[in-house]
Order: sequence, then structure tokens, then C-alpha cells
Amino acid sequence: MLDWSEPAAPSRRMPPPKVAQTAVAADQTGLGTIDRSGGRVSVDDKRMINCRADVNQLLPLKYKWAWEKYLAGCNNHWMPTEVSMQADIALWKSRDGLTEDERRAIKRNLGFFAASESLVANNIVLAIYRHLTNPECRQYLLRQSFEEAVHTHTFQYIVESLGLDEGELFNMYREVPSITDKAAWALKHTQHLDDPDFRTGTPEADQAFLRDLVAFYVIFEGMWFYTGFAQILSLGRRNKMVGIAEQYQYILRDESIHLNFGIDVINQIKIENPHLWTKAFQDEVRAMVREAAELEAAYGLDTMPRGFLGLNAALCESYMHFIANRRCAQLGLQRVFDETENPFPWMSEAMDLKKEKNFFETRVIEYQNGGALSWE
Ligand SMILES: [Fe+2]
Ligand SMILES: [Fe+2]
Repeated sequence: MLDWSEPAAPSRRMPPPKVAQTAVAADQTGLGTIDRSGGRVSVDDKRMINCRADVNQLLPLKYKWAWEKYLAGCNNHWMPTEVSMQADIALWKSRDGLTEDERRAIKRNLGFFAASESLVANNIVLAIYRHLTNPECRQYLLRQSFEEAVHTHTFQYIVESLGLDEGELFNMYREVPSITDKAAWALKHTQHLDDPDFRTGTPEADQAFLRDLVAFYVIFEGMWFYTGFAQILSLGRRNKMVGIAEQYQYILRDESIHLNFGIDVINQIKIENPHLWTKAFQDEVRAMVREAAELEAAYGLDTMPRGFLGLNAALCESYMHFIANRRCAQLGLQRVFDETENPFPWMSEAMDLKKEKNFFETRVIEYQNGGALSWE
């Protein structure tokens, strides 16, 4: 069953690393020469970053929280095409079902997510995967990558269903300044990790890797996506764009695990490398969170210049402050904004799919399984 609770406390067990492994076995990508004479991997050899143990061996498991998130992700499998878009199509094509302000907010929201899902996926595959030297975490990253592909598919399906201008939506991340500013801000933290010469192993490089994790897991997926979810789910609560709202609920369910995985990864790296988590670095992370909330406020004003029933830029800004403080607490940091009430308390209900209609009773597609495979 899906667990929306807080991330499990990362493992505190950390005996000193064994250094008996040969230089060949210290390959951190998993693509190096096979060490024919090395010893077997023991749990105590495993590390989140800069690991000397073979990354091609999933077992023995060390970080059970990573494996559990992989299983939870698999249990939450869904496809966007299983959600009916009929009501959304009728509403979008109707003359007076939506105001111009609502249409603008929906399009900006879709435009933000459409390219963001690809940015997040590329960051996992091209930057994080290479430097996270633990096979159970990599197993989760593989699952997460697929989920990001499903999310990108969702925006293709929405564009196709509603007959939207695909060029307008998928180019918004380049053409709408408030969206470009967010994407560019996150990208600057990942670009140098993609450099083939980048290696973790020095405090500076390891902190650069942590910055990337904060920018993408805590801020992109854990802050900016949440105001995006609140915008669409707020419309869904008023019976508008209910198909997209249902798809956003499934994306939100996936993203909440992505976020909690990222928080667990950062906290475990902190435990194993306390020298990285200096006061100066903590201040830097808090400044990143504050700056990200400001970028989100600009996007909110641009998306909802006038606001509409139940939603406006000011409410979204206080929601961002509430979320920003929450993310700081999850990382063991002091809050960055004055204590703020959650202006969207219904968001926690929206996350609880068990209170909504039972998706699995309404789905019409049966997945092809081993027993149903035909080789003809
Ligand atoms: Fe996603
Ligand atoms: Fe994600």
C-alpha cells in the first residue's frame, strides 16, 4: 500500500570502509574491467557516493529505504491513456466553460510540466545515475526514469486529446521568461556534472553533486511541481478538467516518492560525509530554497495575473513558503520564511488516492503479463 508518511530515517550504521579492494574494483560506473580476484561485496563496503565496492551487485542490500521505494513505484504503475479525457475535451471546446484566465493558467501549467519532466529525466540519466554509487539507489533511479517517461507521455496525450498547439506548449520553457528562469536556474546546477571529466571524491565535487540533488529533488520536484499540482487539482475540485486533474494525482503520487527518495539520499550522504554539510553549505542550500521560492512567485504572477475562484498568485506564494519551510525541516535545516499556514490543506487529501474513486476498479486495460504473451 502506498505510504505517504515521512521518509524513513536513513541508516546510521557506518563502519569504516574496507580498502582491501583493488583499484580495478573501485570502478564507480560499473562499466570498468571485471576484477577476477577481488573479494565478495559485504554490506559494510557499500556507500552512497565514492563507493569502492562493485556497483553491479544489488545484493546484499544496505539501504532498504531505496529498495522499498522501488517496490512502491512499481505498485503505483499507471498509464495516462487509461484516464478518460472526454469531459476535459468537452469543457475545453465549449465557449463559456472556462474563463480566459483559467485557460491561460492551464496552458502555462501544462507548458511548465511538459518540458520539466524531460529535464528531470535527463538529469537522472546523465548526471545523477553516474555518480550515485549504490546499486539499490540506481535500481530506484531506473524506475524513476521510467515514471518520468510516463509523465512526459501524459503531456503528449493531453496535447493530442485537447488539440492544443504542441509547439506552443513544448517551447514554453524557452519562450515564457518565468518558466525559462526556473529551468535555467536548475540546469546550472547539473551542467558541470555532465562534463565527462567531472568526478566526485573531493569536498568541492561532492558538494556540487549535493547541489544538483537539492536543485532537482528538493526544489524542482519538491517545490515547483507542488504549486503546479495545486493549480490543476484546485480546478479539479471545482469539476473542471477532471481528466487532467486525475492524471496529476497519479503524477503527484509518483513525485512524492521521488522527493522522499531525494531527501533520503541527501540525508544519507550527510551521515556518511559529515564534512560536506558545513554551516556555509547549509546556508547555501537555504539560500537556494529561498531563491527558488522567489522564482516560483514570479511564475505564479505570470500564470495567474488576476487569479480566479479559489486560486491566485498570493495564495500560491504562501503555499510555496509553507512548502519551502517543510523541505528545509526535512533536510534538518532552519526554515527560510516566517511560519506560514498551509493555504491548501485539501492538498493532503488530494494526495490520498484511497479517498478518491478506486482507480483500479475503473481501469479498462489489462496489462499484458507473462501468461498472456503470444509469440505468434
Ligand atoms: Fe515526473
Ligand atoms: Fe519526478
